[in-house]
Amino acid sequence: MSRVILIASGKGGTGKTTVAAALACALCDAGRRVLAADLDAGMGNLDIALGMHDAALFSLAEVLSGAVSAEQAAAPVHGREGLFLLTAPAAGYVPAADRLVAFCAEMHAKDTDVILDCGAGLGDVLSAARSAADLALVVSLPEDASLRNASATAQFLAQRPALTTRLVCNRVPLRRSILRKTRICIDTCMDTAGLPLAAVIPEDEGVRLAVARGHVFYDTSRSPIRKSVKSLAERIISNYF
Ligand SMILES: Nc1ncnc2c1ncn2[C@@H]1O[C@H](COP(=O)(O)OP(=O)(O)OP(=O)(O)O)[C@@H](O)[C@H]1O
Ligand SMILES: [Mg+2]
Repeated sequence: MSRVILIASGKGGTGKTTVAAALACALCDAGRRVLAADLDAGMGNLDIALGMHDAALFSLAEVLSGAVSAEQAAAPVHGREGLFLLTAPAAGYVPAADRLVAFCAEMHAKDTDVILDCGAGLGDVLSAARSAADLALVVSLPEDASLRNASATAQFLAQRPALTTRLVCNRVPLRRSILRKTRICIDTCMDTAGLPLAAVIPEDEGVRLAVARGHVFYDTSRSPIRKSVKSLAERIISNYF
């Protein structure tokens, strides 16, 4: 069964785009057909995370307006058969919720997973994505300020009870000594965000390096992110959430 997955956060810079790109790759590698759509109007960088620097020309704005078909607009991601990208719309764009819902239903009929990389914060774009998605992943850093914003995001998303919402804790230090010193406890993260956990994603120095080199970090063989995102994708495919 195909899924529409929105990726959100309260605070900016928590790793939404990093998670969206990695999850798109993992779902595709598991045999799914995937459309990754950047909804961070005017500020998007999903193309860079997918190694497609400015290579995708169309966004959801052109598709939802009917100017181009989804097939014409979706740019095939280099080196990954079955993964397609819609780049970010121009600043200020807000998708009409009913059109986004209809578009996602069309993708569902084509057995295509849709990933919506939303910008930071709560507003009209997230509200439209909330109407269309069936799974929301709220990405937070394992620290109080970020988790408090994740909690506000969870409450905003809960206005649509049919939506399943889960927490993704990102940039969790791998070293036990750091975990101890910073007193990071995953139970506390879930309690503060008010959300059950979908995944713990480790801090991975390779992300910045890979992006700087124009590579897809998910393909870096020793990337610690790979394992956790692969297992998240497997649980999504098996309808665990
Ligand atoms: N697990 C990780 N390990 C190391 N660095 C990471 C990790 N996740 C994200 N980053 C880095 O954190 C920064 C922000 O990541 P990203 O752009 O994915 O966040 P975002 O939530 O999409 O930001 P915005 O709110 O601006 O859209 C980037 O420099 C990225 O490389
Ligand atoms: Mg982003």
